[in-house]
This record gives sequence, C-alpha cells and structure tokens, in this order.
Amino acid sequence: MKNILITGGLGFIGSNTCIYLLEKNFKIFIIDSFLNSSEDILKKIKYLNLQLNNTNKNNLIFFEGDIRDKDTLRNVFKYALKVDAPIDIVIHLAGLKSVSESERNKMLYWDINYKGSKNLIEIMEENNCFSLIFSSSATIYGVNNTILCEDSIIKPINNYGKTKLAVEKLLEEKYISNPKLWNIINLRYFNPIGGHSSGLLGEDSYKNPNNLFPVLCMVANNDRKYLEIYGQDWETPDRTPIRDYIHIEDIAKGHLCAINYLSQRLSGFISINLGTGKGTSVLELIKIFEKVNNKKIDFIFSQRRNGDVAKYVTS
Ligand code: UD1
Repeated sequence: MKNILITGGLGFIGSNTCIYLLEKNFKIFIIDSFLNSSEDILKKIKYLNLQLNNTNKNNLIFFEGDIRDKDTLRNVFKYALKVDAPIDIVIHLAGLKSVSESERNKMLYWDINYKGSKNLIEIMEENNCFSLIFSSSATIYGVNNTILCEDSIIKPINNYGKTKLAVEKLLEEKYISNPKLWNIINLRYFNPIGGHSSGLLGEDSYKNPNNLFPVLCMVANNDRKYLEIYGQDWETPDRTPIRDYIHIEDIAKGHLCAINYLSQRLSGFISINLGTGKGTSVLELIKIFEKVNNKKIDFIFSQRRNGDVAKYVTS
C-alpha cells in the first residue's frame, strides 16, 4: 500500500481526503501550519481513524509546519524514510483560497501558493519522489460562459487563480524537463461543499467565511441574520450566478481515482476538472437547502463581489 503525504491535510478538502484514504488503508503523513485549521480537526480525524476496522494504527502521522520552510518539508521526508515508509505520492493541498483576500494581499498568495509549491517540488526531487496530485482550481478559466473542459481558454481574473495557474505551469515545465520522471495530475476543483457523513468534518471557517455554503449554514444556525446574494443582474436565467457544486466526499474519492491513475503509469502530466457537470444557481441552491433542512433562509441582494463570474460548470 502506498504512503501518501498530504500538505494542508487539516483543511476542508484535506481532512475529508485524509479520512477517506485512511479508510482505504493508506498510510498518511500530514503537514499543516494551522493557518486556516486547528488541532480540533486533527483530533476529529484521529477519532474517526480509531473507529475504522484498520489493523495498522500507526497509519496517521502529523507534522506541524509551513510549506514555505524547506527544512520542515525535508524533515517529513526524512522521518518517513526512518520509519520505513518512504513517501510515494504527494497530494498538495496547502494554500490560501479566498478570491477577495488574494486581491487585498497579493504577495502573501504568491508566497504561500507559489513559493510553497516550488519548495515542495524541490524537496520531492531531493527525495526521489516524483508523483504529485496538485490542487488547482476552476478559477483559472476566468470569464467564460461556456461549459468548461480542460482545454477551454485559461485566463484567470483574480490573483488566487493566477497563483494556481503559475504552479500548474511550473509543474508542466518540470514534467517537460524530464518526461520520464514526473507523474503529475492537476485537479481543477469546481465548488466543493457539504461535510463528512459523520458530521464531524465540514467547511469550518476560522476567519470570516465568504464561501456560499458555510454562510448558508451560519444563517440556518442563526449565526447570521441573512445571506447576502452578490448581484441580481447576472447573465443567467434567474440572474444569480451558476456553479458546479460537488460534494466533499466525491472530491475525496476523486483523489483516490487520481492515486490509482498515477499508479498505473510511470510518468505523465494531465489536468482534470473535478466537478459534476451540473450547474445550480445561488437561488436554486437556497431553495434546495431550505427543502432538505426544512428551514427558511432569509436573504437580501447586494452588489456583485469582485472577481466573481456568471457561470462555472464543467463538461
Ligand atoms: C471561488 C473560486 C473557486 C475556488 C473557491 C475557493 C471562482 C469563480 N471560483 O469559488 O475556484 O475554489 O473560490 O474559495 O473564482 N455567494 C453569495 N453570497 C455569499 C457567498 C457567495 O451570493 O455570501 C455567491 C457567489 O457570488 C458565487 C457563489 O455564491 O456566485 C459561490 O461562491 P463561493 O462559495 O464563494 O465560491 P466561488 O466564488 O464560486
């Protein structure tokens, strides 16, 4: 069974992917800086891991650290070797992901998302590890009202998207420089939502949440009075933006598919959209949420949000 390093393993996608891979008997190394996560998430993953019928209870090893620090990364690989579990594949999720924050704090996004990724690649090379699943984003497609496939025009309109695209390009150059060596998949996530079926691992927000689903949950919990819908003049049938919402457990499964794919070939470079192919508008999502939870969601319309687009749906 393969040994997997997950950077940013305590985030929303990371925590759900970790527990899914633990269920499937992988040995997992996590590195996380707690920048947008907490010890509490780690405790929950450990708790869920204990519930599994898994004979190997040393299957989860955590390191607190920042991918901007090469020595920390080095130590993780060194430790894995020491315990006779050299890292086979890296799932690189560590990074910042707020579109609006990326516009306000541009250099921080380049520092963490780009420089952190470059460090990771260099340390992987030092350790002869060449298999990588990179968390890219649909945001790299920019303004594009068509159904998006992997070879649609790429033109990010926000700084977050630019940093993700830059890492994709860096990885492509790495692959081209030695096509027999690197084995890389860029997963371009659409809009992951929901939580683990235990109810323990969801989209916890440590600062002010600005993604739709956590805000919807806050309104349902009476932690916010109402939802602000950003704009009612979009070029869509009900005038609110359309997204391709995909359940987080399907995203986790997507990582297992990516691992299997990497394992079947010696090298390669590919980008894959991870969505459902079904678009849902903000108003439609509110209606579904109200029906499923039997709870009224109050909302108001406000101005469009910077960096938003009308429609993002994969083919
Ligand atoms: C954006 C990125 C996506 C990235 C994600 C990570 C784009 C197009 N997409 O997703 O690639 O993975 O950030 O954070 O850049 N909305 C409201 N009220 C709210 C919150 C959101 O109306 O309080 C609307 C937004 O205008 C948008 C939709 O809900 O139309 C979804 O927003 P959100 O959950 O923030 O995700 P994206 O912006 O689509």
